[in-house]
Amino acid sequence: MQPMEKLERCLAAVRQKTDFVPEVALVLGSGLGDYAKEVDVETVIPYAEIDGFPVSTAPGHAGRFVLGTAGGVKVAVMQGRVHYYEGYPMTDVVLPARLLGRMGAKVLFLTNAAGGANYTMAPGDLMLIRDQITCFVPSPLIGPNPDALGPRFPDMSRVYDEALAAIVRDTAARCAIPLKEGVYCQLTGPQFESPAEVRMLRMLGADAVGMSTAVEAVAARHMGQRVVGVSCISNLACGMTNAPLTSEEVNETAARVAGRFTRLVTESIRAIGASL
Ligand code: HPA
Repeated sequence: MQPMEKLERCLAAVRQKTDFVPEVALVLGSGLGDYAKEVDVETVIPYAEIDGFPVSTAPGHAGRFVLGTAGGVKVAVMQGRVHYYEGYPMTDVVLPARLLGRMGAKVLFLTNAAGGANYTMAPGDLMLIRDQITCFVPSPLIGPNPDALGPRFPDMSRVYDEALAAIVRDTAARCAIPLKEGVYCQLTGPQFESPAEVRMLRMLGADAVGMSTAVEAVAARHMGQRVVGVSCISNLACGMTNAPLTSEEVNETAARVAGRFTRLVTESIRAIGASL
């Protein structure tokens, strides 16, 4: 099935269940799924109930949409996302982001857990994503261009919206939440990087590395959604410390900073909603 046909079918399946129109769509990264507790829930849709929708196999990813209100703003929260390393085609990986756009979300708020590639980062830091490096993973736009969504050659000079970034920055300052800023690089995974790869990424200007987000941002920009992103730096990337890296460490750090992260996201969404 062509990606557009699949997208429209998924949209029809959602529309059979609800006519909810989100203002802001929020994708929760590894270990950050608890945020959904902040939502005054209107409807929950497990991904498995949407025919053709990719279902995550990653630990710590629940796999459902939570639709409701947070900070006075209508939000669609993706509790769990699929990753390219799970074996899905890239068009399936970005299908949820596109679906949220087709449901009406004007803003896509992306979060993830990421490794710090730069020695100014420390585990537990939150990093506002300023820009991204996506050229190590296939573009989600490869294939016939779905002209109904966006142009063949979309501009990526401002993937992360400056005005939304300013809102998150101001919110962090107001809430006294320390916030770093940097460039996020997506690799396929699922293996963590080698120390030589981390040195390479640092030389290329990456501050954080992970296995998601950048392709979703590309798909969202393609269809004109405004994108904002925050990484939870769960660890320093491989080779930057002597300790081997495990997914447990990633989830533990994300859980440790969940309180700060939740506050930043809730307050940012409140402010973003007021700005729309
Ligand atoms: N590398 C890649 N992805 C990650 C990391 C990392 O160090 N930490 C969390 N996700």
